[in-house]
Amino acid sequence: MLFDSHTHFNNEDLTSLERQALFNTVDNAVKDGRMSGAVDIGFDLPSSEMAAEHARLWPWCYAAVGCHPHDAKTMDDEKLARIGQLAAEEKVVAIGEIGLDFHYDLSDRDVQRLWFRKQIRLANELMMPITIHAREADQEVMDILVEEGAFSDERKNRFGHAGVLLHCFSGSAEFGMQYVRMGAYISVAGPVTYKNNRKTVAMVGAVPIDRLLVETDAPYLTPVPFRGKRNTPLFVEYTARKVAEIKGLSFEETAEITRDNAKRFYGIDE
Ligand code: NI
Repeated sequence: MLFDSHTHFNNEDLTSLERQALFNTVDNAVKDGRMSGAVDIGFDLPSSEMAAEHARLWPWCYAAVGCHPHDAKTMDDEKLARIGQLAAEEKVVAIGEIGLDFHYDLSDRDVQRLWFRKQIRLANELMMPITIHAREADQEVMDILVEEGAFSDERKNRFGHAGVLLHCFSGSAEFGMQYVRMGAYISVAGPVTYKNNRKTVAMVGAVPIDRLLVETDAPYLTPVPFRGKRNTPLFVEYTARKVAEIKGLSFEETAEITRDNAKRFYGIDE
């Protein structure tokens, strides 16, 4: 049974009809045993409110709340306080996605840094797992996580791991292993299926299977063979199949292991 560890039912491009259809598709996949669940990931305050609402509505849906580096410019302390309130809800399982994105630079870099740090502090106060978005800022993201205590013994004692997930990780095998040794989890999305993505294939080959998660980041990053179409949580299957091939495991084993990893990371027990 597959678990999509990072998706966006809260994407603003979906009409409410499209969103309803998407929920029904995943709900059917849960009912017939193909999927066990998904985490709707916030990227600003409105999308975090939506993610929390979706988690209230659907038994198999969980939420992460937080502000993406792109949207850091929309943040203020009042909004951060509201994110903290949402985080207290039972099925809100992480703070995220948070981090730095120096590829698009949609928010000023210092504004990104400020809200990345403030949200790590919030996650530490609330003792919650963190979902990280990093693009063209890999080393600085790691440095800030270390400086802000994301790998503290307190967190490791609480979770049995650091409670840090590198979402859609695009770093090298060596960098991935550095994170794994620090107690982090690594998640891969559709790009691992893209032709010529040797770097991510090598990274998946190196990272132990018990630290790997699969995700879609839907509606973005659609895996082969559906690249070009709008992504959905069900397509997590193709990323899991690629991970299975790289690891020399069966698809079923890979689906089970990555689902168990996602549940362990997010602290979901049912
Ligand atoms: Ni995302």
